[in-house]
Amino acid sequence: MDFCKIERKMSRPQKTPKEIATAAEQNAHLYSTQIPPQLEPMIRLLRTSGIAPPDVEAHLHAILIEQRDKAWAIFPYGAIGSFSFLDMNPSLDDPLFQAVIKRLNTPGSTETFLDVGCGLGFVLRYLAAEGVSSERLYGTDLQERFLDLGYDLFHDRDRTKATYVSGDMLGEEDSSFRKLRGQIDIIYASAFFHLFEAKDQMKAAKRMVGFLKPDCENALIFGQNGGPKIPSWEKYVLDKNAWSRMWDEVGKATGTSWRTETNVESSKEWIRVRFAIYRVV
Ligand SMILES: C[S@@+](CC[C@H](N)C(=O)[O-])C[C@H]1O[C@@H](n2cnc3c(N)ncnc32)[C@H](O)[C@@H]1O
Repeated sequence: MDFCKIERKMSRPQKTPKEIATAAEQNAHLYSTQIPPQLEPMIRLLRTSGIAPPDVEAHLHAILIEQRDKAWAIFPYGAIGSFSFLDMNPSLDDPLFQAVIKRLNTPGSTETFLDVGCGLGFVLRYLAAEGVSSERLYGTDLQERFLDLGYDLFHDRDRTKATYVSGDMLGEEDSSFRKLRGQIDIIYASAFFHLFEAKDQMKAAKRMVGFLKPDCENALIFGQNGGPKIPSWEKYVLDKNAWSRMWDEVGKATGTSWRTETNVESSKEWIRVRFAIYRVV
């Protein structure tokens, strides 16, 4: 599992120097100097990302280490130290993610895709590399500096037409999300809901509904939650019934109706829940 319990603390943008120093010490054992094999899909994506090929081949590992170190300086999460924050496999292994790529690439499709909690935005770069036109791609994250690191890593600030918005999914209504409201057909939320307890998950879910096109009959919200079964993990990874009840409440609050599907994989040490929420019209 690639999810990291300490990432739950990502829900506040500003960290004090003391918090940073403490986390750096706690997570020092996870800081790796080697690029792990799981980063192969990311490396393949960088090869096709428009950076001049000789440059990529000669410097790929150095580029990844440099970007990882910049992210580590923003906040030294364990997943950053271990490089798993650049691991694309949880997305690529999701059959629904693969089905969504086909849906977005249906000839004539004008559907839009938003990645909530997109981090550096590699999912959107992957979709663009798979042929989805970047103007139909949107990403949002609390940390503007993660979005900037994504532009730096893929060298695409001037050429992508994807829309990146920094904003707090739990914050008060503000203008930062204006570009997203009513624009989206499909929302992806990977390793996002599990950062919060139920009340805040509900808040984020209602905001997501506001991002969807009001007339979109095929609206879909999907992704995954999970991680190590640390004490009180049940507060973060809602069970099937609590998750379904939450979406009933989201429906009532937003005048919409939803059908939920969940797929749970669990062991003694960890749990992963893949979910899909379909609009019922
Ligand atoms: C665990 S990372 C997941 C990144 C990516 N989706 C993935 O699957 O690898 C969670 C992301 O959510 C973002 N995040 C945390 N709290 C947020 C909030 N309140 N509003 C928007 N994004 C938030 C973090 O900055 C971080 O990039």
